[in-house]
Amino acid sequence: MDKDRLRELDRKLIWHPYTQMKDFEKRQILFIDRGQGVYLYDLDENRYFDTISSWWCIVHGHNHPVIRKHIEAQLKRLDQVHFAGTTHSGPVLLAEKLSQLLPHGLEKFFYSDNGSTACEVAIKMSLQYWKHAGEEKREKFIALERGYHGDTIGTMSLGGVPAFEGPFQALTFDSLTVPPPYCYRCPCKLGAYTPGRAPNCNLECIGFLEKLLEKEGRDVAAIILEPMLMGAGGMISYPAGYLERVRELSMKYGVHLILDEVATGFGRTGRMFAMEHAGITPDFVCLSKGITGGTLPLAVTVTSQEIFNAFYADYTEGKTFFHGHTFTANPVCASAALGSLEVFEQERVMEHLPQKVERLQEGKMRFADIPMVGDIRGIGMVAAFELVEDPRTKRPFPAEKRVGWQVYLKGLGKGLILRPLSDVIYLFLPLAVTVDEIDRILELTFETISEVYGSVA
Ligand SMILES: Cc1ncc(COP(=O)(O)O)c(C=O)c1O
Repeated sequence: MDKDRLRELDRKLIWHPYTQMKDFEKRQILFIDRGQGVYLYDLDENRYFDTISSWWCIVHGHNHPVIRKHIEAQLKRLDQVHFAGTTHSGPVLLAEKLSQLLPHGLEKFFYSDNGSTACEVAIKMSLQYWKHAGEEKREKFIALERGYHGDTIGTMSLGGVPAFEGPFQALTFDSLTVPPPYCYRCPCKLGAYTPGRAPNCNLECIGFLEKLLEKEGRDVAAIILEPMLMGAGGMISYPAGYLERVRELSMKYGVHLILDEVATGFGRTGRMFAMEHAGITPDFVCLSKGITGGTLPLAVTVTSQEIFNAFYADYTEGKTFFHGHTFTANPVCASAALGSLEVFEQERVMEHLPQKVERLQEGKMRFADIPMVGDIRGIGMVAAFELVEDPRTKRPFPAEKRVGWQVYLKGLGKGLILRPLSDVIYLFLPLAVTVDEIDRILELTFETISEVYGSVA
């Protein structure tokens, strides 16, 4: 393989996602050649910790032999078949296994192939459900500011990250939004929060949702949110009590609750699913990313028998759910998911997790020693550090300083792939990481942020 030719072809032909290509005018984009465990290796065999689990999906490390075995075996039998009017074993067995892991009441599985579509399916199903139920006016959706559910037009309409959705406003539909439980920048300005600790308040911020539902509740189809951790909006972890209250309110006003567990599912928050922290069952849950251990694209929207029943009718009644994608429930992807669940069982992944979670969550606290670390937050295998120019006033750095970008570049030199969300530096670790590796990753991240502090202070 001619490495220089590959790099040149990339520069000439490829337009990368979420990337300002001019940043690579004079700099070579990181060219990954292979992955093993929690490491990625570039073309020159330099090794990097995959501290963001390759966009929040890798669970058991790269190239896990059990998942590989499932994929290889499946490829010999059936590579692809459409899922409308035909079926095959992988998605059926996967649904059976997932139903044993999910809370009781989530029992109908609608497959698709990525996180955005899993959420699109949920909002379309909710809307159509209300038509069938005779509540035609329920057409509005409530989402959180700073929430993120994908990049399709529908999910962008429910997104709360202006940088992502801004240019496309002409295409999106209006949704209702409420301020999120972002404790560091408390929407109620209560000042009851110490970085890294649970807030000392009565979750007054739920009042925004309560007021909105009082006013608009009868016209609302569903509330959608990311349980326990808002990812793309800045890795904002929040108390389980907030989620409990959202569920109470959604039931009070007869509104569906859609939990987007695309990023939080499959152990990342320390529980198999983040909703378990609050002990709630939503009307829809959206799963993707970690479902295959992060190896292949697959998604599923899981809902209740009651919602399914509203669509179950003679064809001529026009109640069919017209939605589907070419690679819905692809057999190879489903086999990877079965492989991943086998690893969860064989390696007793969830039993080993608490020790790792504790190490990461305790280890993150020493970042308070770096003066520009304004907030420290996290849950499970996720830790995040919000960098600010003035910790006293919480004033962010001016965008031109590109502090997060500097951290990214400095991290690469230390063998870390960090991918800050603006100036929020985070670790989103594979569950397979060892305690020693967590220590090493924390140490290198600490050094990286400290050195960047030295140059921007
Ligand atoms: C919470 C959440 N929902 C949905 C998505 C969209 O998933 P995908 O990129 O697979 O479309 C993401 C992606 O990061 C996500 O974090």
